[in-house]
Amino acid sequence: MNLLENISQLATCRAEGGQAEIHAIPDGALVWDGDAIHWVGPRGELPREYQGADRYDAGGGLVIPGLVDCHTHLAFGGWRAEEFEQRLLGHSYLEIAAAGGGITRTMRLTRAAGDDELAARASGFLRGMLALGVTTVECKSGYGLDRANELRLLRLYRRLATTQPARLVPTFLGAHVLPPEFRDNRAGYLDLLTDDLLPTIARERLADFCDVFVERSAFTPEEARRLLTAARALGLGAKLHADQLSTGGGAELAAELGAVSADHLECASEAGIAAMARAGVVAVSLPLASLYLGATPAPARRWIEAGAAVAVATDFNPGSAPSYHLPFALTLACTLQRMTPAEALKGATLIAARALRLEGRVGSLEAGKVADFAVIDAPDVTHWLYHLRGNACRASVAGGSIAWNAPGFRLQR
Ligand code: NIG
Ligand code: FE
Repeated sequence: MNLLENISQLATCRAEGGQAEIHAIPDGALVWDGDAIHWVGPRGELPREYQGADRYDAGGGLVIPGLVDCHTHLAFGGWRAEEFEQRLLGHSYLEIAAAGGGITRTMRLTRAAGDDELAARASGFLRGMLALGVTTVECKSGYGLDRANELRLLRLYRRLATTQPARLVPTFLGAHVLPPEFRDNRAGYLDLLTDDLLPTIARERLADFCDVFVERSAFTPEEARRLLTAARALGLGAKLHADQLSTGGGAELAAELGAVSADHLECASEAGIAAMARAGVVAVSLPLASLYLGATPAPARRWIEAGAAVAVATDFNPGSAPSYHLPFALTLACTLQRMTPAEALKGATLIAARALRLEGRVGSLEAGKVADFAVIDAPDVTHWLYHLRGNACRASVAGGSIAWNAPGFRLQR
């Protein structure tokens, strides 16, 4: 039995209450054993049965649930830093894509990369995420865009899930853009995804979700409806990249299909958001992507007022969001989108877990859930996201085991 104590604030992030309610406990304590949490509460109320547990010292810091990044494109070859500069000089994301850059450029670099190279890069990113307090990571395919390479990326995620401490949640994003080989044969690519890849992925349990990029430059709502309906019949949850660059009915479609989440939504209609709120579709805000593309940030404050549950994630990818810094995304959710620090934290813990159908296991600190947590060098949540200091995370614990310790800090008995 293990006891974590000397905690200035323990943000439990339990489900009850609205998005702003993180159920913070001053001078808290947490008891865990193996990978499960046994007790959470004020230190002064620690039950006698736990008094003899092995003690761990949080150094007077903040303790939060392990962060959940519910939207990343984790495995890819190469980078696209020159596109970052081109956009600063006035070229648009779509213009750059039309000139041979963008997603298809990363597709080429990914196809050319070896398995070991892709795995080493992705596990390096995951180590960096653990050092920020992130313990659950959704990871999309979508840079293979042919049969062999889409399966290769999903199999890579399956292997990585067992070779490093973070929990991975794989999503099939074969419908990211139309690959060049199918330029004149959209129907052929849709058939490949629907009739061949999806059944293979379901049979081998290679993904929990199927995602579609619905956009003028990618796939239509009708194509998404066909693919996601097939995915759901095979037991995969539906996700959408919706209304990012233009208003395309993506939010409405997510509500109609009962998707688990719709992500981006910078250009979503108010009616679409209201329909999502009614249907219980999580709205995933990706403020790093808005920031990097110079887009107007999504009105997350209005979404919350409309009754939607709002998750915040990084969208980590080599184009529109080349940073995996989830705490920075949370600070942006505050400054650009007027979410409060508490709302942002709940959006990257419990609500992000809901966007991955993992709400019963991770995303909050309560008895019975998995012992995923992070120790942060800050007095409370607001101070953490306000100061956003480098190396704020002192330690990350995933599945009850210490996954990362900051230099000079040891979470130990
Ligand atoms: O989520 N919107 C589509 N896909 C990614 C961008 C991927 C890329 O630029 O490589 C996104 O922003
Ligand atoms: Fe994305």
